Amino acid sequence: MSAFTEVTDLKDHAGETVRVAGWVDATRSHGKVAFAVIRDGTGVVQCVFLEKQLEAPVWEAHATLTQESSVIVEGEVKLDDRAPGGVELGVTGLEVVQIAEEYPIQPKEHGVDFLLDHRHLWLRSSMQRAGLRVRHEVQQAIADFFYDRGFTRIDTPILTGSIGEHAGTLFSTDYFGENAYLAQTGQLYVETACPAFRKVYCFGPTFRAEKSKTRRHLTEFWMVEPEVAFADSNDNMRLQEDFVRYVVGRAVERCAEELEVLERDVSKLAPVIEQPFDRISYTEAVDVLKGKGSDIEWGEDLGAPDEAMLMEGRDVPLFVHDYPKTAKAFYMKENPDDPRTVLCDDLLAPEGYGEIIGGSQREDDLGRLLERIREEELPEEAYSWYLDLRRYGSFVHSGFGLGLERTVAWITGRHHIREMIPFPRLMNRLTP
Ligand code: 4AD
Ligand code: MG
Repeated sequence: MSAFTEVTDLKDHAGETVRVAGWVDATRSHGKVAFAVIRDGTGVVQCVFLEKQLEAPVWEAHATLTQESSVIVEGEVKLDDRAPGGVELGVTGLEVVQIAEEYPIQPKEHGVDFLLDHRHLWLRSSMQRAGLRVRHEVQQAIADFFYDRGFTRIDTPILTGSIGEHAGTLFSTDYFGENAYLAQTGQLYVETACPAFRKVYCFGPTFRAEKSKTRRHLTEFWMVEPEVAFADSNDNMRLQEDFVRYVVGRAVERCAEELEVLERDVSKLAPVIEQPFDRISYTEAVDVLKGKGSDIEWGEDLGAPDEAMLMEGRDVPLFVHDYPKTAKAFYMKENPDDPRTVLCDDLLAPEGYGEIIGGSQREDDLGRLLERIREEELPEEAYSWYLDLRRYGSFVHSGFGLGLERTVAWITGRHHIREMIPFPRLMNRLTP
């Protein structure tokens, strides 16, 4: 048996004397009774110190406790509906592991730059813990969704020799005298695994040297990218809808406590679980936007304000499909019904969160793909392996990428995606 009981398990130990190891969240004292709220990483528990029942050194040690000091508390587990978590510890012993120095993060308002400078400590705060717990649940939901549907996870390289998306947002590094890029996407690699495993996905960090300081952009973010053989753009959107519904449902079901800490109005997520997602074409979207007074011209990509306008009055995600070729990446399949466009979709989240998914059917025609690579002035040699997929048993296939942090920000209702990753990388931030 472990020497320590985890706070989350205390309810099962009513009446027993246990030892809890953790950190001091807060203390207070009122004459002959004093309290310490202890956080052990699985929960928080209030510990009650009664002077008349304690040996003098234990009682006196309470007064020395500072915020974030590490301690081992021994006490009797008492069920109490009024206590957070429904239990309290009646302290019988206290071992101080370390008295913490004055803790930089105080229970008051701090500026976000200060908090980000102290991200390694900020992680301990209740809202940050709740957000990252939701992230963890979403990651597990993603793994379960694909596992249950027979997908094989394919881990794709971070160091690459070919440009995955756009030349404009590459991080490059010296690779023994050659140039290597940090992956913008794992897509080109997962595509090649389709003939081996049919349904595959990758899930890992991706990198974009985005010179934008918006609430939706990180330079390092996590993306999950499924790819399915013999699936077209319609199949792709169906999969995205099932997937997003499942992930949101899992978070609502299993993270009720965390979402409450985050003061998330979960009723806003109910329609996402219950109602179908609408689809409109890019061309229709441009008409809608013009009708609303936007000066967008057909051919331009949709910006964040356009997306917000399209989402007005909608409480369920919206697919915008078949964008102009010029606005999208080289690998997308030309639309046979309108060759100015490609068979692709963006999934826009409600409540101002914007694009959470970009997906497409892939160009499976060798000649047309080569043409696109040349049009975009991409180095053809670097794609010879990718082109092989169109040489040896080419096939209709589709896939998409969902940004983890944007999705978690939406589910939790947090404004900025930088809080949805343990150590955010932003244009102006590389530490901690
Ligand atoms: O639309 P994107 O660029 O699509 C791709 O990378 C494709 N290769 C995916 C695929 O088809 N396999 O990015 C996909 C998603 C976006 O919808 C967004 O959620 C997220 O990745 N994303 C970012 N998240 C945070 N910070 C950034 N700078 C992001 N750029 C994209
Ligand atoms: Mg996109």
